[in-house]
Amino acid sequence: MKTQRRKITIRTLAARKRKGIPITMVTAYDATMARLMDAAGVDAILIGDSLGMVVQGHEHTLEVTLEHMIYHTSCVARATKFAHVVADMPFGSYHVSPQQAVTSAIRLIKEGSAEAVKLEGGAERVDAIRAITEAQIPVMGHVGLTPQSVHRIGGFRIQGRTDKAADRVFEDALAVAEAGVYSIVLESIPHDLAERISNAVSVPTIGIGAGSRCDGQVLVCYDMLGFDEAFEPRFLKKFARLGPQIVSAVQAYGDEVRERSFPTLEHSFEGLQSEKPGEKNQAEGAQESAEGEGDQTALYNSGKSA
Ligand code: KIV
Repeated sequence: MKTQRRKITIRTLAARKRKGIPITMVTAYDATMARLMDAAGVDAILIGDSLGMVVQGHEHTLEVTLEHMIYHTSCVARATKFAHVVADMPFGSYHVSPQQAVTSAIRLIKEGSAEAVKLEGGAERVDAIRAITEAQIPVMGHVGLTPQSVHRIGGFRIQGRTDKAADRVFEDALAVAEAGVYSIVLESIPHDLAERISNAVSVPTIGIGAGSRCDGQVLVCYDMLGFDEAFEPRFLKKFARLGPQIVSAVQAYGDEVRERSFPTLEHSFEGLQSEKPGEKNQAEGAQESAEGEGDQTALYNSGKSA
């Protein structure tokens, strides 16, 4: 018998860690991708501020605003039935004060329909984390490489490689766990450090570039689907290479349009046959006058099938 799929909540994620079942998370930024990721059965969808790079084309995530995040979160939330929906808090939306952090998080929940928020940083963020969780909003932490700190770090660099640096990342993870996060993203740290953190905290860790001993994994959707042929960091596995496939599909479309082999009659509409006077029954006549003149045939229904 097929088991019914259930909505994933923060309780489900906590249970996954207890039972040793790995958590799968991916990013999405729009309804179409969210629908596909949800259909694939991922546990969580992150509306990452990585959208600054992969959607907006910036070099980093710093330009992303709270309004951008609310907009993309609402697109994703609308199309997601089962996965847990987490929205990134963008740079500048939680750094000023715990009050500002709460106000921003509330907007992501109320206007974006997120179920939780994620913010970057360690010990320096515990006040913001406490304030947001006190407002009944679950917070996901994010330590190790924190891309919003790119200028302080001096680039996107692996973190925690020396003993001293590893201890700092470890202490940050303990601090955010203690402050009440329900999960922690570990980004670009050595795998043994990620394992040490995962064993030390009771909440699930979700790794990206942090090895296999985390309680779950996350990847940026366009990266794991291979949209960008040139992007080949060591941590990334491309589970498809859709970039070249998209280019050749669009080239084929262009060729067919230019040689007029698309559209054929199969993809075209025909006019309606005109009726002889007096043939129309009364009900049809009344309907037509209510709708006005012209063809009222639906192009597609809400399920998009013809
Ligand atoms: O913004 C993002 O997509 C992220 C993930 C890479 C964890 O923070």
